[in-house]
Amino acid sequence: MSPRVVRRAAKPDRPRPQGETLAVLKLLAAAGADSTPVVLTSREVGERIGVSQQAADRYLVALEAAGLVDRALAQRRQRLRLTPAAMELLRAEYRSYRRLFEGPASVAFSGEVTSGLGEGRYYLSQPGYVVQFTERLGYTPYPGTLNVRLGADALRKAGTVAGGTGIRIDGFQASGRTFGGATCFPARMRGRPCHLIHPDRSHYQDVVEFVAPERLRDSLHLSDGDRVEVSLAES
Ligand code: CDP
Repeated sequence: MSPRVVRRAAKPDRPRPQGETLAVLKLLAAAGADSTPVVLTSREVGERIGVSQQAADRYLVALEAAGLVDRALAQRRQRLRLTPAAMELLRAEYRSYRRLFEGPASVAFSGEVTSGLGEGRYYLSQPGYVVQFTERLGYTPYPGTLNVRLGADALRKAGTVAGGTGIRIDGFQASGRTFGGATCFPARMRGRPCHLIHPDRSHYQDVVEFVAPERLRDSLHLSDGDRVEVSLAES
């Protein structure tokens, strides 16, 4: 198994902050609290978002309890830092506004073809998935996923689309085990129609997977290490 392959925990369901709580997150992000803690009193937070010190304190306590803000208290000052979950939430907020004003996003990036753990074939052969893919993607995928390793820049680009709305594939139970859900995004690899598939419980950090009607390694003459250009659209 490649050392880069890691299993990520399922995302906990978290109520989406609205109104003032969201304003606190935006304020902290603008102050740089995603990378280094910022020192702010509740009064200062309250002044900046137009609420009382007591209200600001309540929002901070709630955000801490929701795992969105880390607070280190020292006398009357507090060091506030946004958690990765908070940044993910702000990105989702950003995507919803971007989509509202600019329509569905589309990005282009390139990555390196790589081999996976050989699990794609097993999953893509499950009837519970095959039926959904055929109905929702409009074709029966070749049984497997083509893996493409992305650099940091390409990962960020792919993330702006792949974190958003896509075509849902639901999880199901079969043969006494649970098969997880996934979201698919219409894509083109070297111009060929395919879908990026983002499992709810992804095994990879820097690898994205693609399904297509045909075996892309054959139709595009691909071997491990080859670079491929991908364009990706929100659906
Ligand atoms: O071992 P790995 O997880 O990469 O493979 P798999 O998901 O079981 O898929 C079997 C093989 O078909 C691998 O070599 C994939 O790269 C390839 N494949 C492809 O070329 N085009 C697809 N649409 C799906 C899989």
